Amino acid sequence: MTARAQLILANRAFLDHEAPRWADSPSTASSGGLLAAVRPVIQPWDGREGTTWIGVGMGRFDREWVDARGYEILETPRGPLRHRRLFFGSATWQGHYGEVANSFTWPLFHLVRADLPRLTGYYPAPQPPSSAGWQSFVLVNRAFAEAACEEDGAQTCWVQDYQLALVPAMLRERGYRGRIGFFLHIPFPALDVVRPYLSPEVCARLRTIVEGMLGADLVGLQTPADVERFVAAASELCGAREADGGLEVGGRRVRVGAYPVGIDPEEVLTAARRGRVATRVRQARELGLPVVVGLERGDFTKGIPERLRAIAEAYRQGLRFAYIGIASPTREGVEAYDALDRQLERDAARAREAAYWVGCPFTQVRASVGWEDVVALQRDADVVFTSSLADGMNLVPLQAAVAQSLRPADERAVVLAGVDAGVTRVFGGDGQDGLVGVDPLRQESMVEGLIAALEGRPVRISDRLIHLVRERDARSWGERFLGDLEEAC
Ligand code: F6P
Repeated sequence: MTARAQLILANRAFLDHEAPRWADSPSTASSGGLLAAVRPVIQPWDGREGTTWIGVGMGRFDREWVDARGYEILETPRGPLRHRRLFFGSATWQGHYGEVANSFTWPLFHLVRADLPRLTGYYPAPQPPSSAGWQSFVLVNRAFAEAACEEDGAQTCWVQDYQLALVPAMLRERGYRGRIGFFLHIPFPALDVVRPYLSPEVCARLRTIVEGMLGADLVGLQTPADVERFVAAASELCGAREADGGLEVGGRRVRVGAYPVGIDPEEVLTAARRGRVATRVRQARELGLPVVVGLERGDFTKGIPERLRAIAEAYRQGLRFAYIGIASPTREGVEAYDALDRQLERDAARAREAAYWVGCPFTQVRASVGWEDVVALQRDADVVFTSSLADGMNLVPLQAAVAQSLRPADERAVVLAGVDAGVTRVFGGDGQDGLVGVDPLRQESMVEGLIAALEGRPVRISDRLIHLVRERDARSWGERFLGDLEEAC
């Protein structure tokens, strides 16, 4: 890798210490798309050089493992990683993470096509942050900016995702002299869709977030559509002018581009080779039933209720298949997520009853399942059913494509993905590679997609798709972004 990121700033630490130092049980690697994409980018620490990852200390035993300023060296599969944790009080954390990041920004930024709160009945309206909550968000972002400036000599600082959107501008205000990159892992919203939510106060918060991002030398987003929406917002809210390859704002050039994230295929293949066949998959095979799986974080952006309703309808239409659904707990304590759990229980009960009447096994659980078990399910499925209402990328279809590469081409699965997920736009092509777009806002689209997939009518996961996913992996994503960032400065 030519270009390097001496500093990676992310809300999530590289891993959380959930065990005390004296126990030899491994610490838990955090979940989520960001880590899967950024992990392969880090450069091992040789005592003088390499990447320093700065993240929030969220693990119960984190403080036992770090020095007085939060530093430690983490042993990772890619070698030693210099790592610093920033610690915050619970009120600050609740304001930053619970209120602003995940009750305001997260629901707001996924409004890329439609007014989801109105259309779904369960998607939460973006909650305008309280002034205390916003101050916490500013405080956490400022702590990251100050921590980065303490890393003297770091030439490149790569700030990750919406939770740290104010950091690039804060770095610049503090006279940070290195290159500043910012990547948004989630979608950027459409102004005309979010306008009903833009009270003057909310509009001011959104402007501050966009101004924060514009402090970077290079702003990366997932897809060209996200770039368009970001440029439109920067122009309307911050008076930015379009210039070739980016924006002119405040007398500065800011490069803006689309850098769809990828995965680490080796991480998936290693698990796919080792993962055991799940009992429920074996049972389905004994019944001669195809297996449909739905696996992701239990998030209101994933369209899980719409998927469960389509599954119930497919059972009612007489289709026979086993369904294995796993929604892993996420952002616990954030009220919007508790409401979703109740919604999922209702929709799962209806689908379970429909499955019962046609004698088919149906499972929908809220559980954290080990990485190998998740990959084994993706490997053995006949249909991998994702249905995001909106998604920066959605790595599940990419992981499934690689896991399925262990199977003969004519036995592979069909993968369904929401039409507003980055993965469908970037990798879906014309649907002739086994990755098929479905519209979670139209039940007939979901049911037809599922029926077609069960009948294997769209082409199954193709060698071409697998090659594309392997080629556009996390490593090439990082190299492209960091190479362009070097060029931008
Ligand atoms: O990919 C979007 C994202 O918010 C990442 O920032 C994060 O790694 C993942 O989803 C999981 O979210 P959280 O860090 O809140 O558990």
